[in-house]
Amino acid sequence: MLDHLTVVTHPLVQHKLSLMRKKETSTSSFRRLLREISLLLAYEVTCNLPMTTMQIETPMEPMEAPVLEGKKLALISILRAGNGLMDGILELIPAARVGFVGLYRDPETLQPVQYYCKVPDALDSRMTIAVDPMLATGNSSVAAIDLLKAQGAKNIRFLCLLAAPEGVARMKEAHPDVPIITAALDSHLDTHGYIVPGLGDAGDRMFGTK
Ligand code: URA
Repeated sequence: MLDHLTVVTHPLVQHKLSLMRKKETSTSSFRRLLREISLLLAYEVTCNLPMTTMQIETPMEPMEAPVLEGKKLALISILRAGNGLMDGILELIPAARVGFVGLYRDPETLQPVQYYCKVPDALDSRMTIAVDPMLATGNSSVAAIDLLKAQGAKNIRFLCLLAAPEGVARMKEAHPDVPIITAALDSHLDTHGYIVPGLGDAGDRMFGTK
């Protein structure tokens, strides 16, 4: 059973995150670091997946070998920044089913506005991992999880790179059953809803936009 909040303190994760935070880190380095860090975070978020065994034969003898149980995982990218985190995870879990939830943040109200939703079938029998690098106000994360639950998802985890205390509290209030896995819990949000010290706009930094 995962806690409501897990901060992955592994030295490789922390080192790579610090490089990503630096304002002079280039778009290509940022993308490479994000892909590398997402592999390490994927390892953590899948740490206690249910297992079963299957009968196989090694070149030496038959054995009952451990394998993952149940239906393929569903990975849900919260657009657009979620895609950067998802690419690395898919390298580790290539058979995962993939979905997308499109939400943008209204710059005035900071409230999420949905513009896209396409998710795998049978979410009720899949572990569902929602990914978004930044858990800031929590408004869009809560809205995305609302959507996934409305589509039947029951066993959901939320994976991000950075979390603000405000977003963690909002998620705990709205979705106490959804564990959050992150590489860092930062200090606070600024008046525009950006995480401080943070790393700036994750989408802009990974896609080279402004
Ligand atoms: N989204 C971002 O990309 N960065 C933040 O700091 C907060 C939300």
